[in-house]
Amino acid sequence: MTTPIDGVLPPDPHEVEGVRALAERLARAAGEIQRERYETAFEIRTKSASIDLVTEVDHACEELIVAGIDAERPDDAILAEEGRGDDHPDARWRWIIDPLDGTTNFAHGYPRFCVSIGVEHAGVRTVGVVFDPLLDELFCAVRGGGARLNGSLIGVSSETRLGNGLVATGFAYDVRRSPKDNIGHFIAFVKESRAIRRDGSAALDLCYVAAGRFDGYWEIKLHPWDVAAGLLMVDEAGGRTSDLSGGPAQRSGFECVASNGTLHEQMLEILRR
Ligand code: IPD
Ligand code: CA
Ligand code: CA
Repeated sequence: MTTPIDGVLPPDPHEVEGVRALAERLARAAGEIQRERYETAFEIRTKSASIDLVTEVDHACEELIVAGIDAERPDDAILAEEGRGDDHPDARWRWIIDPLDGTTNFAHGYPRFCVSIGVEHAGVRTVGVVFDPLLDELFCAVRGGGARLNGSLIGVSSETRLGNGLVATGFAYDVRRSPKDNIGHFIAFVKESRAIRRDGSAALDLCYVAAGRFDGYWEIKLHPWDVAAGLLMVDEAGGRTSDLSGGPAQRSGFECVASNGTLHEQMLEILRR
């Protein structure tokens, strides 16, 4: 018999499978747009700050994904970074979409960006898909079903010492004007980890923790679409996710820490300083 969690029945596995298949299909289709338009001429605008870019490719990808969901699952809620889709609060299923994560990289012809699609059921992260079109790498996680890269199960690293760990982070678009800029923590990790990367795609950073390529990752002031798929990926790959104090990972993305689990407390100790 199926047991309700907080009065809500878990989703029918067949429906989960349908959601996963649709998320994968749409992520691949949007990724194909990115691959075709990469290093071509496209329009670039700014958003919240002069360093916060959006291109016509971000919009084209979002349009395709939202139209695909609307066509097959018109009752589902959609939260998409560039503003398309209806986030009606009563819907059981909610799609959280970053149509192009790594826009600065894309705009500069730096080959690290992706499509990120996370799907919640009754507020619980249930499916996550992240597609890197240049490497043709599709990361996919289903709650209780593990995390996969191109169909094969992946798992976090077994590193036990932060001093031997490769970690990643990023900076928010208000970094020029906000005193809460992540730079103090960045310096601490430069000195205490083996090496650090700032590679410009939060969704891929989280997938790299899931795949054991990074041992840890943290960032502040992210948004739901940056983390919706990646947090599930890390959890399903056997890692740990949390806020900066070790509490539950935030849906908002405002505070985000992810690790192989073993290094988590060592990371939190630095982040509490
Ligand atoms: C950004 C990237 C970047 C992170 C920023 C995000 P966008 O997303 O994930 O790595 O440091 O905080 O906003 O704007 O390229 O979708
Ligand atoms: Ca993003
Ligand atoms: Ca984006």
